[in-house]
Amino acid sequence: MCHPNPEPMTQNVSIKPGTDDTNVEFFDSHSHLNDEKFDEDRIDLINQFKKENITRFITNGYSLDSSKKAIEIAKSCDFTYATVGISPNDIPQNEDELWKQLEEIKELAKDKKVVAIGEIGLDYYWNKDNKNLQLEVFNKQIEIANELNLPIVIHTRDAVMDTLQILKDNPVNNKGVFHCCPLNRELVKEALKLNFYISFSGVVTFKNSKNADEIINMVPNDRFLIETDSPYLAPEPVRGTRNTPINVKFVADKVASAKGISIEQVAKFSYDNANRLFKNNIHKNF
Ligand code: NI
Repeated sequence: MCHPNPEPMTQNVSIKPGTDDTNVEFFDSHSHLNDEKFDEDRIDLINQFKKENITRFITNGYSLDSSKKAIEIAKSCDFTYATVGISPNDIPQNEDELWKQLEEIKELAKDKKVVAIGEIGLDYYWNKDNKNLQLEVFNKQIEIANELNLPIVIHTRDAVMDTLQILKDNPVNNKGVFHCCPLNRELVKEALKLNFYISFSGVVTFKNSKNADEIINMVPNDRFLIETDSPYLAPEPVRGTRNTPINVKFVADKVASAKGISIEQVAKFSYDNANRLFKNNIHKNF
């Protein structure tokens, strides 16, 4: 049984939800519809996306189970895709189990609904004690991405220098994106030099993100994506609620005002950029 969500999930920005007075389309490049917080109403929620102008979204894996679920969701409707990978915060304790899981990730990644390996990377904020293992797991998954000709989706927290060093030492053929990009000038500068994309999340809308405008303006229009990271990081003005891809409009609105362009232009640039980044699998499906 699916139940409709009782809570109103959006407030209007310049694009009015549910109206057809505009043909603007949004691509939420990073969500976790595979999270248990969506178990009650996942289908009903996804069914609302198109009338809310969300016409593409990606469900990202972060562990073996969540990757399997991401593929399941991707197969359930035509306008959605998946990524598979083991995040630095989901590395199994048992190393035999870890290597077995990485083999499985590689097999899952061959599915035609999978558009990238991710989210993968380094997180020294939540896990300081297994840095070497994190580096090893990150490298292994870059190897898988290169073997399968896929880009990567990067999670990095308190690990900027090591993340950049890995990408310099182990070039990713199809590049990738810094998901929920930390608002760190050095990281953005170096990521752009390495030809990676930068994805803006609800963090850019937070009142304490003082340098958001500056960071947004560092990123050229052909290099940014927008995302929600649902169910986490709900943007202003719905901060603190369960986030959904419908709220990607608030992120777009912030990027538009920082760059001094229209929300329609932000939607179009980020849509084209996401299609270009994930092209290897997207062209087979769209
Ligand atoms: Ni995420």
